[in-house]
Amino acid sequence: MIGKTLCSRSRPGSERLPLMLLAVLGALLTVGCRQDMHDQPKIEPYEVNNFFADGMGSRIPPAGTIARGWLREDSALWEGKDAAGELVDTLPMALDQALLERGQQRFEIYCSVCHGSTGDGQGMIVRRGFKQPSPLYEQRLQEMPVGYFFDVMTNGFGLMSSYAKQVPVQDRWAIAAYIRALQLSQNAALAELPSPIQDEFHAALTAAESEGDGVHHDDAAAEHH
Ligand code: HEC
Repeated sequence: MIGKTLCSRSRPGSERLPLMLLAVLGALLTVGCRQDMHDQPKIEPYEVNNFFADGMGSRIPPAGTIARGWLREDSALWEGKDAAGELVDTLPMALDQALLERGQQRFEIYCSVCHGSTGDGQGMIVRRGFKQPSPLYEQRLQEMPVGYFFDVMTNGFGLMSSYAKQVPVQDRWAIAAYIRALQLSQNAALAELPSPIQDEFHAALTAAESEGDGVHHDDAAAEHH
């Protein structure tokens, strides 16, 4: 009686055993097949792929594709040229004191070593033997549209290399504006200047003249001895 009971109890258990084993095996298999996100079925760069006629996995972007953040629609700003490809003659941003001061500072850092602080072309590198550029305030360059200076900085000119890597676009325009200021500074008529500056000039001139007289008298006195 007891034996029968045991036996009858053990029977359903032994039937379930293979099922349980299958479940465990199944679970193990599932774990073994786990696919991480970094290991997806995808085409790696430069991988062969026969889906495409050229056998390459990488696709060439369609013509005119622009990387995000690289849309440079404003050709005046980025190239110094209008839609027709002509150099622009106006700044593509507002001209104010801050822009000119920035331009002066950048010019002193990047350009004055060759072009000189006034743009005369007598910078230290030139005095040490590098080719002397034309004065930035000469007539020919005064008549150039402002986009020309942006273009020279962007693409280089003859022996001068491009400064596009060192000087960002906004700063290139600031320098171009400052070159205009240099051109004015070397060609301004006294009557065009604000009256306090005219007065200052006259005072300095009078002082220099009387000093000059002093020197002259001394020379004359020396000659008499
Ligand atoms: C290493 C020296 C050097 C530096 C620095 C330099 N330049 Fe020049 N630049 C030259 C020389 C030399 C020429 C003339 C090149 C030639 O004729 O082959 C020239 C030519 C130019 C011209 C063209 C002038 C023309 O005759 O049409 C402009 C404009 C100019 N430079 C602006 C700049 C500006 C703006 C900077 C600063 C961002 C700068 N340069 C920095 C040496 C330099």
